[in-house]
Amino acid sequence: MSGKCYYANSDFRSKPDMPKARFDRELRNRLLGAARTAMKRAHAPYSHFKVGAALVTTSGEVFTGCNVENASYGMTNCAERTAIFSAVAQLGSKMQIEAIAVVNDHGVPCSPCGACRQVIYEFGPRASVFFPGAKGWKKLSITELLPEGFRLK
Ligand code: THU
Repeated sequence: MSGKCYYANSDFRSKPDMPKARFDRELRNRLLGAARTAMKRAHAPYSHFKVGAALVTTSGEVFTGCNVENASYGMTNCAERTAIFSAVAQLGSKMQIEAIAVVNDHGVPCSPCGACRQVIYEFGPRASVFFPGAKGWKKLSITELLPEGFRLK
């Protein structure tokens, strides 16, 4: 269903000598590769819409997730939350998301749902989110996707 793919990996850290656009593209491609692998494991017999997600933490560790549906439809867990919950289970709740990427097996635009945006915000208030938009890949910050996210402080 999900799991840690790589341990602290310098490939996921920005390098002072690399242009930002190139770093972003390489980061996105690495996350998308991991997300596609997880997507193939999705349990989506009801929607027939498989989704995969991969996140990298601020310490450079990658976790993946897929959507897991249920005959009681409301019990479905989205790919993004599967990846985040797996990361918390492995690293604990101080884990912070640096970036998260989402893919689907229909090749259609698909940004994280509202519930997942709130969960991303909890563990990555500065996270970047890569997702397929109407005109290709998009990168937005979680606060662009979720202005005024809820915090209990
Ligand atoms: N889904 C995700 O896993 N992530 C998203 O960002 C959007 C929706 C899943 C939930 C359900 O299993 C299927 O896609 C159709 O809604």
